[in-house]
This record gives sequence, C-alpha cells and structure tokens, in this order.
Amino acid sequence: MSPIASESTVTLREITPANSEAIFKLSVADSQKHLVASNERSIAQAHFEEAAWFRAIYADDEPVGFLMLHDESLRAEPREEGYLVLWRMMIDERFQGMRFGWEAMLLVIAHARTRPTVTRLQTSWAQEDGNAGDFYRKLGFVPTHVDDDGEQWAALEL
Ligand SMILES: CC(C)(COP(=O)(O)OP(=O)(O)OC[C@H]1O[C@@H](n2cnc3c(N)ncnc32)[C@H](O)[C@@H]1OP(=O)(O)O)[C@@H](O)C(=O)NCCC(=O)NCCS
Repeated sequence: MSPIASESTVTLREITPANSEAIFKLSVADSQKHLVASNERSIAQAHFEEAAWFRAIYADDEPVGFLMLHDESLRAEPREEGYLVLWRMMIDERFQGMRFGWEAMLLVIAHARTRPTVTRLQTSWAQEDGNAGDFYRKLGFVPTHVDDDGEQWAALEL
C-alpha cells in the first residue's frame, strides 16, 4: 500500500468497535491541546447528546482525524432549526498541513447542504495562539461575534 499523501482520497467514516481505538489515539500537538478536546472526550460526549453527529476522517485507509457536528434536526423534537454547528475538528499532528482538514471540511459542507432546513454552518475557535481562524476564513466562514467565553464565532451560508 502506498503511503498517504496530499493526493490521498479523504472520506468521513463511522466510528465502530473495529476502528475506535485508532481514533482515540489520534492527537493534536501538545501545543494545540488547549484548542480542541481529546477524541475520547468528544466521543463520550457524543453518546450523551442526541444532536451529535461524528465521524472519523480518513486519508485513503489511514485514520487521520475526527470531527463532530451539532445537528438539532437529529433530535426527536428539534429545539431550533436552520443551522449546524461544527463542534469539534482535528487532524492528528502527524498529518496536519496535508490538506486533509480542508478536504474533510468540503465533505462536511456537502453533508450540511443535505440536511433538512439547514442554511448555515457555524463554528467557533478559542482566540488563542495557533487557533484555526484563518483556516475557517479561507473556507469562506465570516466572523460573527465573540461569546461570553471569549470564543470567536463564524458562519458559512450554504
Ligand atoms: C485546523 C486543522 C483542523 C486544519 O487541518 P489541516 O489538515 O492541518 O489543514 P490543511 O492542510 O487542510 O490547510 C488548509 C489551509 O488552511 C491553512 N491552515 C490550516 N490550519 C491553519 C491554522 N491553524 N491557522 C491558519 N491557517 C491554517 C493552511 O495553511 C492551508 O492554507 P493554504 O490553502 O493557503 O495553503 C488542524 O491543523 C488541527 O487539527 N489543528 C489543531 C486543532 C484545532 O485547532 N482544531 C480546530 C478547533 S476550532
């Protein structure tokens, strides 16, 4: 099997007993750990949140990252409609800068466009060193406001 490269095909895959350990082991650099929760924590939270939609990010057959959406329409009784929130997004430190995050976001945006009633994708980032603000801006997200926790919010109209 050839090693993964920027040209590798990026897919979003369900997390199962067969691949969960590999996803738990994916990690950002120590200097980035203040920017995103660990995958163990995110997946545990997902199991208590009806509105969570989460996937592993693969480059060819190599797991390289993780993302999670908050999708109100997954609830039996949605509380609000019209937007999705990108809740978690990470690429393992070994695989950053290879465009896998970008390709995964294009897949998330395509997925968001298939959701009923959804016209906007929102995200936020901590205003701290190394934050992903420019990554999201390049994707077309437009900053909207800063919340009480100091998180910068941004939105992408679909
Ligand atoms: C942010 C993250 C998901 C980006 O994924 P990635 O695969 O490394 O990024 P890509 O290689 O797809 O980069 C795409 C573009 O965004 C830019 N970019 C990526 N991360 C960036 C960052 N943190 N700050 C500024 N620009 C960034 C790249 O330089 C590239 O720009 P170019 O098109 O001009 O060359 C990844 O670096 C990561 O997991 N970071 C740590 C955790 C984190 O901050 N998650 C987001 C929480 S809000």
